[in-house]
Amino acid sequence: MALRSILIHPDPRLKKPADPVTEVTDDIRRLADDMLETMYDAPGIGLAAPQIAVMSRVLVMDCMKDEGDTPRPMVLLNPTVTWSSEETGVYEEGCLSIPEQYAEVTRPSEVEVAWLGLDGQMHSEKFDGLWSTCVQHEIDHLNGKLFIDYLKPLKRQMITRKMQKLKRERARAG
Ligand code: NI
Repeated sequence: MALRSILIHPDPRLKKPADPVTEVTDDIRRLADDMLETMYDAPGIGLAAPQIAVMSRVLVMDCMKDEGDTPRPMVLLNPTVTWSSEETGVYEEGCLSIPEQYAEVTRPSEVEVAWLGLDGQMHSEKFDGLWSTCVQHEIDHLNGKLFIDYLKPLKRQMITRKMQKLKRERARAG
């Protein structure tokens, strides 16, 4: 396993739809392992492949973030939302590609998601609470969409300018 570096917004690769996974190969398994390691190290509760510059429809997540919780690492290939509740909920979201910026986003409270597992089988599960927010946020990444795209333009521009500044500072630091 290896840590991968996470792209920081703005980056054209974070705005591009990712390609479907056609087969569960050793490369995909290795990618998923690396993504989980990178996500736990960050630390974060979700990560999508485009965030590490791999344009494949792969996401990992584990929302069992409280101390004492048993970890539940999940790997979803080609995930799609097959049902969403009419009821919506508001969560303060953040993103490993937009460090230290948080904003409230409204999304369906519950979603049902279908995906291909690393076992080569199709899976389907209903998610609520933090898991629901997380899986929707990560699927958005696979479609080139960021949580700040839900915000008012002024707020989005403000965050983007902060990230540009952060990237300049990091580049200078080497
Ligand atoms: Ni994100």
